Formats: sequence, C-alpha cells, structure tokens
Amino acid sequence: MTDTDTAVATAHASGNAATDKFKTARVSCDTSPERAGAIYRDVLSALGEIIHRHEVTYDEYRVVKQWIIDVGEYGEVPLWLDVFVEHEIEDVNYSRNALAGTKGSIEGPYYVANAPELPSTCTMPMTEKDAQATPLVFSGQVTDLAGNGLAGATVELWHADEDGFYSQFAPNLPEWNLRGTIVCDDEGRYEIATIQPAPYQIPHDGPTGWFIESYGGHPWRPAHLHLMVKAPGKEAITTQLYFAGGQWLENDVATATKPELILDPKAGDDGKNYVTYNFALDPEA
Ligand code: BEZ
Ligand code: FE
Repeated sequence: MTDTDTAVATAHASGNAATDKFKTARVSCDTSPERAGAIYRDVLSALGEIIHRHEVTYDEYRVVKQWIIDVGEYGEVPLWLDVFVEHEIEDVNYSRNALAGTKGSIEGPYYVANAPELPSTCTMPMTEKDAQATPLVFSGQVTDLAGNGLAGATVELWHADEDGFYSQFAPNLPEWNLRGTIVCDDEGRYEIATIQPAPYQIPHDGPTGWFIESYGGHPWRPAHLHLMVKAPGKEAITTQLYFAGGQWLENDVATATKPELILDPKAGDDGKNYVTYNFALDPEA
C-alpha cells in the first residue's frame, strides 16, 4: 500500500504526488553557458557571503546537508521551492515582460493540466461534503487591456476544499474535484458556482514543516482560488484570488498575496456569496 492509499493526507504523500506530476513533463530551457555561469557564480557568492556573515558552524552545515537529503526523499522539492522561492520568479517575470494586465501570482505545486471543460455558466465538480460549505458564485469577464471581451477565452480554476485538500494530492477525493477548465462565452464571460475555500496549511509534517518550525514560523496560506486564464493571441496568466479580511492575508507563508488580487464577496439573500472579478490580458509578446 502506498501513502496515497491511506486515509491520511501526509506531506510525504502529497509531496510525492507533486514530484511525480512535475516529472511527467520534462522541462528544458535554452540558457547560454555564459548566463548559466553568471547565475551560478552569483548564487555561490551570495551563499558564501551569508555563511561568512553568520559564521555558519560545521554542525549547522551537516544539519542542512541532511535536511536537503530529506527534502528530496520526501518528494518535497516542488513544495519547498513553490513556498519559498516561486514568488520571486513570478515577480521578476511580470516586471521583465512589462505586463499591464491582471497581476499574476504563484502556480504552486497543485496545478494539474487538462481539467475537464465546463460551460461558461457552470458548477464546479464537488463532493456532497463540499456542497455543505458556503456557496460562492464567481462571475466576470476575460478582456483585453481596453476592456473588450475576448472570444475563445478559458479560465482554469482549481482550489482546496474546506479541509484544505486538493484533489489528486490527497486521498479519497474524486480525480477532478474542485477543478475545471471553464470555456467562456463569446464575450469572455463566465459564472462559476463553487464553494468558499478556507485558509490552508501547506503540508508540514515533513522537511518543509521542520524548516518552518526551525525558525518559529507558521505553515498557513490565506484562503485562495487558483486560476490560469488564456485567450487566443494574449499572454496567459497564472494567478490567485484571495478574500478581503481573510486570516493570513498579511502573513502568507508563500508570500504570494497582492492587493490587486483580493475579492470582497457579498452575501445574497439566498445564503450564497457573490463576487465579480474581471481578468485583463496583455497582447502576446
Ligand atoms: C498553494 O497555493 O496551494 C501552495 C503554494 C505553494 C506551496 C504549496 C501550496
Ligand atoms: Fe493553493
């Protein structure tokens, strides 16, 4: 029996699932030897400077060496990098491309490509238990920078359930639970019925959690929706949306919140929360 067969979601199990999914698409890039050398030299010289500044001891060095081995063995490389490093990569790429549309945010380790298509007005696949949570009706439009609706737009949405679990990374959830590719109408509009997600603790019973514990931190992310928005001839964006007044907004373990990405849903008379958010996409570079 593997960890994912058990009823308990562990960092080990979700970490290994994230590692396996990442490995299925072998990535490559055309970085020149000159650029690679310049980056490596800077990384090593920054590391050397930090070691000297803090007078790192041999015991500390050995503990870090053991911890890096553990991160690999627990399958937590995607988890640790996406919590502590991805936000810098996202930030520098948004600035470098001088994008003017909706801000991006980190993808994180739990994206799965090819989620089943849903029509522009739809209900996300959810369990009976999910259906007891506060309903959230999320609507809006995908536009160009001038506000014109975009035909052919899609909105991929994925988020955790009320217990903080993502389908395909926790046991006993339907494969595509709370995941879908919404095919917008001819004007880029969508209306998605889902549930209000809860704040979420990244898996922290493995080496990523030991790392956080070692500096007295916490493993919480504020409640969020993940989105990947695409339209023909436009730059795709990967982003997240958060909730006004939500816990951990100011203190996200993954440093991935932005003021432009905060929703403020209003409660309707029918007990559902309603919110509108539009996505503006830059022209393809
Ligand atoms: C998340 O948003 O679900 C996430 C982001 C970074 C690391 C782990 C999880
Ligand atoms: Fe998430």
